[in-house]
Amino acid sequence: MKAKILALLRSSEGYISGQELCERFGVSRTAVWKVMNQLKEEGYEIEAVQNKGYRLVHTPDVLSESELKSRMRTGWAGRNVHFLKETGSTNADAVRFLEEGEAHGTLVVADRQTAGRGRRGRSWESPSGASVYMTLALKPEFGPGQASMLTLVMALAVSEAISSVCGLKAGIKWPNDIVVNRKKVCGILTEMNMEADYIRSVVIGVGINVNQKVFPEEIRDTATSLSIEKGEEISRAELIASVMAHFERHYEQFVQDQNLSGIKQAYEEGLVNRNRKVRVLDPKGEYEGIAEGITDTGELMVRMDDGSIAEVYAGEVSVRGYYGYV
Ligand code: BTN
Repeated sequence: MKAKILALLRSSEGYISGQELCERFGVSRTAVWKVMNQLKEEGYEIEAVQNKGYRLVHTPDVLSESELKSRMRTGWAGRNVHFLKETGSTNADAVRFLEEGEAHGTLVVADRQTAGRGRRGRSWESPSGASVYMTLALKPEFGPGQASMLTLVMALAVSEAISSVCGLKAGIKWPNDIVVNRKKVCGILTEMNMEADYIRSVVIGVGINVNQKVFPEEIRDTATSLSIEKGEEISRAELIASVMAHFERHYEQFVQDQNLSGIKQAYEEGLVNRNRKVRVLDPKGEYEGIAEGITDTGELMVRMDDGSIAEVYAGEVSVRGYYGYV
């Protein structure tokens, strides 16, 4: 009920009377009053005026299950959501929730992670209060070959959500870092659980720097946050709901095509490496070329000096711009 009241308060222009809330939810005035008090304690600014009712004046950047549920407008992605104040890694939680029988599309969101995982075995710093740490748990009905492409689907969804919620131009550094003004604001870690030759689960973990003000020395030159770039606080819950909405749409297209062909154009439009010189850090030998776009299966197409095209697979190599991180 709390999430529904919140959604109603948010969507209405003026006041909503206590009477209307009681009738809608079939509860007593005292029950409504209790919910309002809980919301105020969580930091929501709610004005209560006699004979008029309640009005939501200000929503702080709170992350809670009700805040997330009240904003979710998808069919299945993130509809079942778990919010954890603190956890080890939301990727690990997502795998566990699926094993316990929770639905495809379950979302795990945490305010803090104590064992956040990054790509290539690195850790992901996850302090509380300012960032998004979330994992979408999926039980896809396709093969392991397709699953790796989901990272690119999520990258597109995150970049679009950042643009629509914050009004910032967010680009994609192939395959799955999101950058704003040439600095990283988001990383994505997709992990797959296999059994024989079928997929038990795929979990897509997303870490977004939203309202941080400072970064550790080592990443200060290459990382930034949305609030630094925008110059104001961003609602994490609104951003999460928007990522889910964009992801759901693109995922359905992806399932229909069984590859990235339907979203390739949108992905390439966001690609910051496109038509730029890149250095491919292949363990078998580094090389350079011009990034031209992606294949239908997500490899980066790099044109070499001799005119031939190299298809670069994520996972094996990393790509650096000629003049730095992007
Ligand atoms: C990267 O190295 O760029 C990927 C970082 C992914 C971090 C996210 S935070 C939520 C989820 N849980 C984890 O432990 N990692 C991912």
